[in-house]
Amino acid sequence: MPRTEHWWRDAVIYQVYPRSFADSDGDGMGDLPGITGRLPYLRELGIDAVWLSPFYPSPQHDAGYDVADYRGVDPRFGDLGDADKLITEAHHLGLKLIVDLVPNHTSSEHEWFRAAVSAPKGSPERARYIFHDGKGPDGSEPPNSWQSVFGGSAWERLPDGQWYLHLFDVTQPDLNWDNPEVRAEFVDILRFWLDRGVDGFRVDVAHGLIKDKDLTDWTSTSQILGGLEPAGPPPPMWDQEGVHEIYQQWRSVLDEYDGGRILVAEAWVQPASRLARYVRPDEMHQAFNFPYLDAPWTPPRLAEIIDESLAANDAVGATTTWVLSNHDVVRHATRLGYPVGQARMHGIGAEDPQPDTALGLRRARAATLLMLGLPGSAYLYQGEELGLPEHTTMPDEFREDPAWERSGHTERGRDGCRVPLPWEADAPSYGFGPSDRSWLPQPPVWAEYAADRQQGVPGSTWELYRAALATRRSHHLGGGTLVWERKDENALMFRNGDVLVLTNFGVEAVELPAGATVLLSSEPLDDGRVPADVTVWAML
Ligand code: GLC
Repeated sequence: MPRTEHWWRDAVIYQVYPRSFADSDGDGMGDLPGITGRLPYLRELGIDAVWLSPFYPSPQHDAGYDVADYRGVDPRFGDLGDADKLITEAHHLGLKLIVDLVPNHTSSEHEWFRAAVSAPKGSPERARYIFHDGKGPDGSEPPNSWQSVFGGSAWERLPDGQWYLHLFDVTQPDLNWDNPEVRAEFVDILRFWLDRGVDGFRVDVAHGLIKDKDLTDWTSTSQILGGLEPAGPPPPMWDQEGVHEIYQQWRSVLDEYDGGRILVAEAWVQPASRLARYVRPDEMHQAFNFPYLDAPWTPPRLAEIIDESLAANDAVGATTTWVLSNHDVVRHATRLGYPVGQARMHGIGAEDPQPDTALGLRRARAATLLMLGLPGSAYLYQGEELGLPEHTTMPDEFREDPAWERSGHTERGRDGCRVPLPWEADAPSYGFGPSDRSWLPQPPVWAEYAADRQQGVPGSTWELYRAALATRRSHHLGGGTLVWERKDENALMFRNGDVLVLTNFGVEAVELPAGATVLLSSEPLDDGRVPADVTVWAML
């Protein structure tokens, strides 16, 4: 069990998306008691910690990433007592629990923003957000050319003529982090949850809090979750130097608490050396490795990212945080079912080219085994242990992601990876809850992915994940060191301690080194050889 102060360095952390994990009351929306009830499943899977996406009071215009009250629980998900029970029960089972913190913006229904709207220009209430007069003779043009991540202008005008910045939806006004009152408020929010026993925070849009003071025009559209331009200076709204002192302050607050409380950055920043600045010894503990998530299924590129990431993190004394799926990207079992090198997809609809599901799952299993064989920590996204694909044929009328509307229906958005989980093949809503309701429709193929069709079934994706997590733990892979044995167009092979990890990206089967004993394989071997799109863990 990861009981030490440094548990996070090699931890496997499982992302629960509360809307879609488990519904205890049958309203079609997941909830906190539903999660608590399923903790034994997570314990059996063998993870170290759970990250919960937001469950705070919210009008849910961005699925809870629009927070109206940072110190409560939305009645859809339960109440504070349910949160306390979840924390206690997780700890009782030996699981850590981290929560999502959304500091870049509040909901437009947050009491601060309501007050700002009714207060005059230049008031302290407006100074908590980023309000400016517009351009043009009558101020009817936005203060600059910034675009919202979800599409359209990043500025919205109030009836009195002033504009406010929203890098995301119009209902998500950006806070002004140059205002000490905002800083003090968030320290207080950190303490509120730390005092309740949470083990840390996943920090939403961690690279966005500070904006260039001059509001320099920036014409390129901010791709959803896009980070730095690969070469060149950071855009004026992302990865500004000033964000780091905020995290240094937060770190000193966390360090007052025992038990190793952590901060993990959602920062779409590259290259690796730039991202590593978020995990310097006096800042955060982890930062999602999104370049790895985004990498094509090609060994040279993957090896390059692995090397760069390990080196950049080593240089600051941190480990690397691997991830393949989350609630913002097309699930990796589906991504990998498209031709190699396909550009980042912003959602998939029924009329779009459909993936090769079998190939996608085969590669996803291999990709996961490769990732879990690397030293460092790793995040899993709910349902990937079932090999769940994206819902790629969801009728558009069900879509809730604001990106769908704001992009003028050019981006289908992220609903396809957020569909409620299938627990039982033959139950209504596939066991998601006691009724047949689910807030997004579940495709009929969900039955074959249901947990009860996989647990205890040799060769199932669930059993593969469970075995991988157990082996990773017993061979200390998370705390190991990578030594390459092979990196070419067809295969990657490295040693991590006493384990040899080999992934075959080519077409022909690959021989294992003589004398190797297989510990785990993402698919059956072919006469002792490793077939295409398969990862093997072996001992020599
Ligand atoms: C992060 C979240 C995403 C959300 C956005 C705005 O990227 O992961 O789901 O839409 O921030 O809060």
